[in-house]
Amino acid sequence: MSREKAGALSSLLDGLSREQVAWVSGYLAGLGADGLAASQADPAASRPEVAVLHGSQTGNAERIARALHAELAARGFAARIDSLGSYQTSRLKRERLLLLVTSTYGEGEPPDSAQAFHAFLMGERAPRLEHLKFAVLALGDRAYERFCQTGRDIDARLEALGGARLHPRGECDLDYEEAARDWTERVLKAVAAEGAPAAAPALRLVSSGPVYDRERPCMAALVVNTRITGRGSSKDVRHMELAPAAPLVFAPGDALGVVPRNDPELVEMLLQATRLQGPEKVADGRGGETDLAQALACRYEIRGVSRAFLACVAEWSEAGALKAMLEPEGAKELKAYVAGRDVVDVMREFPIAGLAACDLVGALRPLAPRLYSIASSAKADPDHIHLTVGVVRYERQGRLHQGVASTWLAERVAAGAEVPVYVHANERFRLPEDPATPILMVGAGTGVAPFRAFLEERALTGATGRHWLVVGDRRFREDFLYQREWLDYRRKGVLQRLDAAFSRDGGARTYVQHRLLAASREVYAWLAEGGHLYVCGDAATMAPDVHAALIEIVARERSCSREEAAGHLRDLMAEGRYQRDIY
Ligand SMILES: Cc1cc2nc3c(=O)[nH]c(=O)nc-3n(C[C@H](O)[C@H](O)[C@H](O)COP(=O)(O)OP(=O)(O)OC[C@H]3O[C@@H](n4cnc5c(N)ncnc54)[C@H](O)[C@@H]3O)c2cc1C
Ligand SMILES: Cc1cc2nc3c(=O)[nH]c(=O)nc-3n(C[C@H](O)[C@H](O)[C@H](O)COP(=O)(O)O)c2cc1C
Repeated sequence: MSREKAGALSSLLDGLSREQVAWVSGYLAGLGADGLAASQADPAASRPEVAVLHGSQTGNAERIARALHAELAARGFAARIDSLGSYQTSRLKRERLLLLVTSTYGEGEPPDSAQAFHAFLMGERAPRLEHLKFAVLALGDRAYERFCQTGRDIDARLEALGGARLHPRGECDLDYEEAARDWTERVLKAVAAEGAPAAAPALRLVSSGPVYDRERPCMAALVVNTRITGRGSSKDVRHMELAPAAPLVFAPGDALGVVPRNDPELVEMLLQATRLQGPEKVADGRGGETDLAQALACRYEIRGVSRAFLACVAEWSEAGALKAMLEPEGAKELKAYVAGRDVVDVMREFPIAGLAACDLVGALRPLAPRLYSIASSAKADPDHIHLTVGVVRYERQGRLHQGVASTWLAERVAAGAEVPVYVHANERFRLPEDPATPILMVGAGTGVAPFRAFLEERALTGATGRHWLVVGDRRFREDFLYQREWLDYRRKGVLQRLDAAFSRDGGARTYVQHRLLAASREVYAWLAEGGHLYVCGDAATMAPDVHAALIEIVARERSCSREEAAGHLRDLMAEGRYQRDIY
């Protein structure tokens, strides 16, 4: 990338963390193509401004959008960027060129910040968009039934409202980088074809520091790995501390990406189930070759069973039952079938004679990094990153199934050994800028992790805002994670209120949402005073249950309908005052 271009990009990246700037720069370096930049603008040529919008929960879509925006600006296009959360929908009818990048959450729902925009666009008040040209990039995960649903919905709706596609919708699975880069490059060409760039970009040089991401992680030594659930607990939760080999920049709310390795025993089981040996040669993804056993250990997902993998097995085995599950009517059976199974289970159930090593790996998804909320503040401990890791282990048909990354970290990484990591910045889960703003934090299980970082940071910086923490877990005696630290904060007056809910201590099952409902008036008062609300932890049940409780609280305290209460919460999400980090 040219010096001028790098400078122009950097000038657009103010306000981002060093890691984010590095990520965007790295991404753009990957885009490479300088051809369009060379097209010297006729300064007189006027052309519409390009609006780049993002809907993002954990930052992937936002980073892609920022890179796209920076590249547009570097190529001389008039472009602006906005989150769907802060975007004024009244502008929509005036847009001429719109590029939108969004992920999908829940069960095919928009990310929190995009909920209000999504509701507006799908509703009757959405304007006709005959003058609009648009392109949508949808991020998702093929493991979900409603893959890329939000991007698909928005793309279809923009067309239904009269908009014309500037470029077809792109769809990215978990390993989104290459597909996103490809879409970005094509969209940039399509934008260029709309007319000449309007203005030369302002130039300023800022150093971006080293790039650490999932493709170029930093090594970090695992220096603490302590079980923090009691001996009698049904859960194994670890407090871990990692010492990165190079300084990593992170803020409360960020997560750490861990690039894991598969369990060698599981690799061995898979080789046996497929009657392959291990030394067979397969492509290494960098133009070379590697052993099958090595590739299975480091490069491919052999735990979670994807739809694409089952489609391959159905084709190889000609198993009617599998084929039926893959039909649209079989969605329910498919969901039940994949739950808890791993690739070894499937290959044992459907043995394939003469399976080639390259066909096996061709059917598998790349091994995805796992994210863990950072449980410490860099201000308190700049040299270590603390995590709270729930170790995934469960029995299925007499065989122990173990989570890839959590058991790798907990059991197979030796004390002091290094693991590849990177900071996954999460601008959608941030402390309020004003230290006087009260914050209410709701976390169940390992969901308390980011709140440890929040409290550490706010205590250390002397933030004057009040703090209220609601935690939940199974049993008081065994599962009250970081109990001493919370009580210490209570004693010191950092934490003004602490509520805890334990679901398995006998009697009626009590969860965090029950604690919120019981304190309905106070919860609403905190919000009405301008407080920020954070929810972290389980996405399948806890987050929807907490959300339903909040609707009830708002409806009760404002004496309004549930629909109005839901709309109020959507507005809070769009304003960034109700933020969720759920998984
Ligand atoms: C933004 C974000 C932050 C996160 N923060 C944290 C954190 O702070 N702490 C933390 O522990 N995790 C956190 N996670 C989750 C974490 O990334 C991993 O998903 C988790 O550790 C499991 O990964 P694994 O590789 O060990 O398990 P995997 O090999 O990925 O296996 C997990 C899968 O096993 C299956 N499974 C699990 N239990 C059962 C069961 N009992 N019965 C049947 N099937 C089952 C499910 O399909 C599940 O998806 C976070 C995730 C995100 C997206
Ligand atoms: C709790 C949870 C629910 C998700 N639900 C879906 C889904 O229903 N459909 C889908 O395609 N992807 C789903 N995803 C995958 C995300 O869309 C994907 O990880 C994306 O890269 C996240 O981008 P973001 O960081 O911009 O939010 C889900 C991810 C999580 C953690």
